[in-house]
Amino acid sequence: MIRKGILLAGGSGTRLHPTTQATSKQLLPVYDKPMVYYPLSTLLLAGIREVLVISTPADLPQFQRLFHDGSHLGIRISYAEQARPEGIAQAFLIGEDWIAGEACALALGDNLIHGDHLSTLLRAASARPEGATVFAYQVRDPERYGVISFGADGKAVDIVEKPLKPESNWAVTGLYFYDKRITDVAKKIKPSARGELEITDINHWYLNEGSLHVERLGRGTAWLDAGTPDSLLQAATFVQTIQTRQGNLVGCPEEIAFRMKYIDAEALRACSKLIGKTELGRILKDIADGTHE
Ligand code: G1P
Repeated sequence: MIRKGILLAGGSGTRLHPTTQATSKQLLPVYDKPMVYYPLSTLLLAGIREVLVISTPADLPQFQRLFHDGSHLGIRISYAEQARPEGIAQAFLIGEDWIAGEACALALGDNLIHGDHLSTLLRAASARPEGATVFAYQVRDPERYGVISFGADGKAVDIVEKPLKPESNWAVTGLYFYDKRITDVAKKIKPSARGELEITDINHWYLNEGSLHVERLGRGTAWLDAGTPDSLLQAATFVQTIQTRQGNLVGCPEEIAFRMKYIDAEALRACSKLIGKTELGRILKDIADGTHE
């Protein structure tokens, strides 16, 4: 099982200016929680308890104020700076010492994945000893993303970053699982025309080797990113709709930490106290008290 995961929350969030001129995109609210809660939840669901948060030198202290050392969630959170936005794949170079030659997952700080059986899929990806796993999702605007095309046998044949003419509508989501060669692979990658170390080039390396597993997420799963005014609002509305309809929380690391038995009821009650007299705080207290399923 993969023990470590990087949570990348860098970038300048230009598609959300002026909102993100003075604050980090990944700390903006998606309904009732900071955006970064959602990808952190995904990593926790995958069984990952060692997390490296990477952000800009200006924003990193705010993430430290939010998560501290992670002990309130029964996990360990470390921090590292990305001085300049030089690409997603740079995360593995920044994190080289922390990764220490182990397998490592990566979650982008603006991605929200929610769905049935998600933890089963995540655990299967995490248990794969060799190669890489990425998740593909059908979208109407694939040109905004990394795009995977498949051959007649259903196997991935190509993966292209933001193609002008996409070969398919399968976008690669911002969640990746890599084997212990990941740092060496990241070192082989050269900056793209836009001057960034592309995560797509890493995935391409595994594809060429024949060890890229592509998990297609179907209709039972929602994948949203929150990098533009519209997608941010859509993500917030999605979370609000599910939570108020079902009473089940979406993307709440405190709840997941409790359900995964990383923390006990007393620790969850302490989390709910910190959150205060909000609906979220109340639901967490009910979960700790056993009065919420
Ligand atoms: C990045 C990746 C892209 C991926 C996307 C998922 O794009 O480069 O391959 O599909 O995240 O959110 P960005 O959001 O940095 O433009």
